[in-house]
Amino acid sequence: MAKGTEIKVAPSVLSADFAHLHRDLKKVEDGGADYLHLDIMDGVFVPNISFGFPVVRAILSCTDLPLDIHLMTSTTGLYAPRFWKLGLPDESVITIHSKNCPDLPFLVRALHNQGIRLGLAYNPEEEELPYLRELAGYIERVLIMSVYPGYGGQRFIPGSEKRVALAKKIKEESGSNYSIAVDGGINYQTGKLVKESGATDLVVGNFLFSHQDYEEVISKLKE
Ligand code: DX5
Ligand code: ZN
Repeated sequence: MAKGTEIKVAPSVLSADFAHLHRDLKKVEDGGADYLHLDIMDGVFVPNISFGFPVVRAILSCTDLPLDIHLMTSTTGLYAPRFWKLGLPDESVITIHSKNCPDLPFLVRALHNQGIRLGLAYNPEEEELPYLRELAGYIERVLIMSVYPGYGGQRFIPGSEKRVALAKKIKEESGSNYSIAVDGGINYQTGKLVKESGATDLVVGNFLFSHQDYEEVISKLKE
């Protein structure tokens, strides 16, 4: 990790206790979380259904943290503006997937032109990070999936750090400013590995919420 790089930690709300969401969100906020990662799954793009507008509205009512809306939906062009229009805190981002999006360059530019701050997510098999060079100037964040999307609590796929390193290389070569987040199976070991490869942000779900002391986990992940 480059000296002086400040790591951001984004708890993945999917692993929170939904019966005590307000309590858990307050705990991660007090524990030093930089923003919240919200997994929106439509049961089509991925084989699981998570939550949608009512829950995101509820989250907005109990935190001021920025949000990263991770859209795992097959109709991204329709839903990205709808989530954005909920009125997200400053620094929030809508993250869309490259996978199965034949018109990605067009869509990214169209959403960017609507003033939507965007992230671009890449699945484990997208080794070459398609279109990233071309779209680097239109996005705020790259989300490197280190598991196949669909479920929390999966194991980090070894080798994911190579795609982190490629995202960093493209960032430097293109003079872009995007942050590089890693999503899936993050703990102290895998967190260290991806930080050394250039990750600036760690999304953490199961590992964080299975501990009692969120502040300790978040600060250790930032080391
Ligand atoms: C996977 C989701 C992840 C997941 C991360 O489809 O995109 O955000 O919730 O959770 P952990 O850290 O448990 O792998
Ligand atoms: Zn996610």
